[in-house]
Amino acid sequence: MDRLKIFVTRRIPREGIDLLRRVADVDVSPQDGPLERKKLLAAAPSYHGILGTMTDRIDAEFMDAAESLKGYANYAVGFDNIDVPEATRRGLPVSNTPGVLTDATAECAWALLFAVARRVVEADGIMRSGRWKWWGPLQFIGGTVRGKTLGIVGAGRIGTAMALMGRGFDMPVIYSNASGRKNGVLETELNARLVSFDELLAQADFISLHTPLTPQTRHLFGAEQFARMKDTAYIINTARGPVIDENALVAALKKGEIAGAGLDVYENEPTMAPGLAELDNVVVLPHIGSATRAARAGMATLAARNLAAMLKGQKPETGLNPELFD
Ligand code: GLV
Repeated sequence: MDRLKIFVTRRIPREGIDLLRRVADVDVSPQDGPLERKKLLAAAPSYHGILGTMTDRIDAEFMDAAESLKGYANYAVGFDNIDVPEATRRGLPVSNTPGVLTDATAECAWALLFAVARRVVEADGIMRSGRWKWWGPLQFIGGTVRGKTLGIVGAGRIGTAMALMGRGFDMPVIYSNASGRKNGVLETELNARLVSFDELLAQADFISLHTPLTPQTRHLFGAEQFARMKDTAYIINTARGPVIDENALVAALKKGEIAGAGLDVYENEPTMAPGLAELDNVVVLPHIGSATRAARAGMATLAARNLAAMLKGQKPETGLNPELFD
């Protein structure tokens, strides 16, 4: 039989490519940025396996084009770029990379939390610009972290890790889940309380988002929700941009309805809502939640192992439609 062929839509850490080369011929997109839709659709028919990421839309049109495809492996834990029900209907296995980036993303949420509460980026800018003249009793006053209430929206793997990492800061933890299910680890380890979304909005001093993007969570935070938060509260988003109505966030920050925002993700990446970048009380990162060497290597090797398994007709370790193998 001819060798199987794999296409990798972005340059990824070498560990992943090395694994794939053991099972197939591998082509890696030579370009630096995301593959244009036209190029993805043109490449699709020639491959048995594709390893892509959140900038690739894996929908019915793609699946029509990818006629020899035996599996698609996402290099990301979020999979809102994949039409999983459609893949399942067609018997196409698809996978993501949960677990390996949990700590990296939770740490990024903490980096944002401290940066926005203590105005780190704004203060750094003053130093670099040479405008700092003297120490001042009223300069760069920010928010306290220790003892403040942490609200986790979406207490899955990353939300749980984020809350557990805060142990040293004695923060009462409340959380809300779309499923309404209790999180045993948070309740036992932190005495955390499952609350309604409305209660979380009203009580939390820091709200950290860890929910997947679904039709139910799109614009979960809009004008109404920001108005219900404390005016001293901060929102941190390392999940998916569209969970927040970004124009409404800009308006709420301008009106002082909330104290600040730490964002790693945006509604229309790579752009930001007008006005966001001009605000001092936001810290904005270019979607780097999983960007540690360990997490990115873990994502590359897990995605590669998943794809290798799917090419052999075997169940991937972290498949999104495991029922195909029952
Ligand atoms: C990153 O955003 C991911 O979903 O892995």
